[in-house]
Amino acid sequence: MGRNALITGATRGIGLEVARQLARAGFGLYLTGRDERRLAGVREELRAAGQARDLRDPTAVVELYGAAREALGRVDVLVNNAGFNKAKDPLSRVTAGDLDDSYAVNVRAPILLAREALREMGGRRSGHIVNVLSSIVHTRMENYSVYTTMKCALHGFTGCLIKEARQVGVKVTGVYPGGVDTEFRAQSRPDYLRAESAARMIVDCILAPEDVVVHELTYRPMVESNF
Ligand SMILES: NC(=O)c1ccc[n+]([C@@H]2O[C@H](COP(=O)([O-])OP(=O)(O)OC[C@H]3O[C@@H](n4cnc5c(N)ncnc54)[C@H](OP(=O)(O)O)[C@@H]3O)[C@@H](O)[C@H]2O)c1
Repeated sequence: MGRNALITGATRGIGLEVARQLARAGFGLYLTGRDERRLAGVREELRAAGQARDLRDPTAVVELYGAAREALGRVDVLVNNAGFNKAKDPLSRVTAGDLDDSYAVNVRAPILLAREALREMGGRRSGHIVNVLSSIVHTRMENYSVYTTMKCALHGFTGCLIKEARQVGVKVTGVYPGGVDTEFRAQSRPDYLRAESAARMIVDCILAPEDVVVHELTYRPMVESNF
């Protein structure tokens, strides 16, 4: 039986490329993002199910998992990819709203989706949850305090999830890419990883042999030396 995947942040960047590569590997897909127009285009291209949702809304996050499960029959792989960094800001410019938004999308949404996935996947003792973190977890940079804090929180969660999910036969992978040339930042960075390459590493973890679980994978463009 073919496998199915729910992918967040699939309207562009790394998530879109993960969707394309999993579609080529025969996966049934449920895709999400906020941009209705882009999502419609991707769904048509990949013949995928999906719906637009703002992951800042925790009720929408939980409903999203239920909708994916209903549309696909079962979710075999959850790719918690959606995430953002509002700006490279010094702490003096950070607001409470910035913290709340970043927490909601970069931490709370993937945790709630992982909870829903573990309930479903754990019941049948199979499945795979992939959290897209960042190599920023392994380093520190000025003007990245909010994003770093949230990715470090998701890193802590992922470490716990690896152990809880193992007990019910579910694989968990945390991926830690370095810079990727996407719309994540305003300026283009052709010296960074291509989105296809960043996605390929994630898909390789998903397509690893049945007896393998990749717990953590860090990868970077060769230009990066901040480690
Ligand atoms: N690019 C990098 O250098 C880099 C490096 C390390 C890790 N990462 C991580 O990799 C992941 C993907 O990044 P990317 O480079 O592909 O970024 P991207 O091109 O900016 O894409 C981000 C995706 O997340 C979705 N998203 C953002 N906010 C959302 C919200 N509130 N609700 C629902 N969806 C939302 C966007 O969809 P809509 O716009 O349609 O809402 C989009 O599909 C993120 O977790 C990021 O932190 C990126």
